[in-house]
Amino acid sequence: MAAPETGSQEIHVPADHLMGVYSRAQLAFERGRGVRLYSTEGEEYLDCMAGIAVNALGHAHPTLVKALESQGEKLWHVSNIFRIPEQEALATKLCEISFADVCFMTNSGTEAIECALKTARKYHDAHGQPERIDVIGFDGAFHGRTYAAVNAAGNPGYVAGFGPQLPGYVHLKWGDHEALKEAAARPTTAAILIEPVQGEGGARALPVECLRGLRELCDAHGILLIYDEIQCGLGRTGKLFAYEWAGEDYAPDIMALAKALGGGFPVGACLATAKAAKGMVPGTHGSTYGGNPLAMAVGLAAMGEIATDAMMEHVRDVSGYLTQQLEGLKARHPDVIVDIRGKGLLVGIKLKPNNRAFMQWARDEKLLIAGGGDNCVRLLPPLIITREELSEAVEKLDRICERAESEAASA
Ligand SMILES: Cc1ncc(COP(=O)(O)O)c(C=O)c1O
Repeated sequence: MAAPETGSQEIHVPADHLMGVYSRAQLAFERGRGVRLYSTEGEEYLDCMAGIAVNALGHAHPTLVKALESQGEKLWHVSNIFRIPEQEALATKLCEISFADVCFMTNSGTEAIECALKTARKYHDAHGQPERIDVIGFDGAFHGRTYAAVNAAGNPGYVAGFGPQLPGYVHLKWGDHEALKEAAARPTTAAILIEPVQGEGGARALPVECLRGLRELCDAHGILLIYDEIQCGLGRTGKLFAYEWAGEDYAPDIMALAKALGGGFPVGACLATAKAAKGMVPGTHGSTYGGNPLAMAVGLAAMGEIATDAMMEHVRDVSGYLTQQLEGLKARHPDVIVDIRGKGLLVGIKLKPNNRAFMQWARDEKLLIAGGGDNCVRLLPPLIITREELSEAVEKLDRICERAESEAASA
């Protein structure tokens, strides 16, 4: 139903009554199992996007289903004014497997970023340097959609029209070392915020030397290093955390996690060293739902499955195989594929044809892939995917590339 006109603009009420913030594909799913999704039309799809790196264990993983059902019968929610044993258990687990000493539980990635930013500023405040508020970010970054997260990433498309940009965020070009050194040395700088492997920016992986250089730069200037491992963390790169590729001595001070942490249930976490979290005392932060027993039970079950040497070996094995296959594909289709990039099972394919069109052709082949910046498509399959399933994906990609070639020829 169209509402009356206001001024010169007609107000349109969409048929689905959803705020029109997404450009959705005309496709809906009703169930999933492993790496397969089944549409409401009854068609089977190979899921190589996993809800954008969320369903790390695939769909309807029996361990997660069991955890959800058994916790669901006991207790869903209690306020954070009480102790929550399941939350303490997940925090203990995350600290055991990472650099961190403490965690704050959230419902999403952007909330984990919000907590990370507040933690960094509070750290300097607690150390008598409240003027240190600036957070350095990089082009192509994506940290979520809260006001602080869009300002931290600085993507013009995501901040335009929302009023004045927040002060305290500095944006640099990815790879501009000189500008970074200069910004890190400023007396108002609080932290550097970066994804070790950019996701939405188009699967750009920071070289190991840069991960090390960032740590050294932060130490040299007494500023904090915040890693956004919401997409690239929890096994996706073939190590539990992407920072581990640089070695134990190069861990961040603060890290945001989400996505795979709940395997599909909304769970996020901000991890920090005790030192970095010094300012986060009672009353400085909170969440109604964050860390409730139901979410924590699923998170614990997901971590039990993901945080194993066997899973990391599996990811390294299948991702090595995938990269090799994709390089072959690139050689066969030089007019379609420009570059293969990323790390582990966070793979970007930079294309010549439009990436949105390519994603639609993939859906026509019953393959689900994600988009990305720099005209990339991303493959982010469940971590449990096998070599056989990946070779099926590559066969589909081969056909999609052929279609791209014939579309270009007839254009
Ligand atoms: C690297 C990164 N940071 C932050 C976010 C935001 O997470 P959420 O959508 O759960 O708020 C995302 C989501 O895609 C992400 O990929």
